[in-house]
Amino acid sequence: MIFACVNTKGGVGKTTTAVHLATMLAREQVTLLIDGDPQASAASWAAWRRDTEFAPSPTTTCLTGKAILTEGRALAKGFAHTVVDAGGRDSAGLRSALLLANCAIIPVGASNLDAAAMTDLLEVIDMARDYNPELLVRVLLSRVDPRTRDTADMLTFLNDHQFNVFKARVCERVAYRRAIGEGAIVHEVGRDQAAILEMNEFFKEVMQ
Ligand SMILES: Nc1ncnc2c1ncn2[C@@H]1O[C@H](COP(=O)(O)OP(=O)(O)O)[C@@H](O)[C@H]1O
Ligand SMILES: [Mg+2]
Repeated sequence: MIFACVNTKGGVGKTTTAVHLATMLAREQVTLLIDGDPQASAASWAAWRRDTEFAPSPTTTCLTGKAILTEGRALAKGFAHTVVDAGGRDSAGLRSALLLANCAIIPVGASNLDAAAMTDLLEVIDMARDYNPELLVRVLLSRVDPRTRDTADMLTFLNDHQFNVFKARVCERVAYRRAIGEGAIVHEVGRDQAAILEMNEFFKEVMQ
């Protein structure tokens, strides 16, 4: 299965989601993580990880632009699963990721800005569907602050637009920031059970 973590908006948790998903997949089968963002955050995570004992790891490589589709397609043949961390704007890289993927996972925050950015992304996804009609699109509510009504409002917006939304939510937790900075995932630094639990819920839904 080929997954692409996409959003035209930055800071929504694409890299955090991609790294967690790829590492959880790697625990079961050989997995490729393609860093498709010129800012190379997933590649930095992988580089930090190489200096640790954490295992298993997804095989990580950087690709940009159209190479995400051409090279990505060739490389993915050698792996059970591939996860693409796509760059945070409408680019050849984002479009290529959407053509390569079987499943697009869109992490979104809960704010009017996030909702506005969805409109741009939808156009790109609609275009990708012309060439990749089987593309599954799923939204992951990310960096959720359970104390506010924002998430409920965002959910209404997403349901109104008939998005397929994961039941699992990823809350705003320092554990994510720390884990990524240590070349790990939340399971491996193991201090925040709530974070581990919500990631497991997300993973279970992905695999259904
Ligand atoms: N659930 C979360 N809780 C706390 N911080 C998060 C969470 N998800 C992401 N972050 C932090 O927010 C910033 C942006 O996240 P990142 O995954 O890099 O987003 P993107 O790839 O969409 O730009 C990073 O500093 C990251 O550590
Ligand atoms: Mg990123």
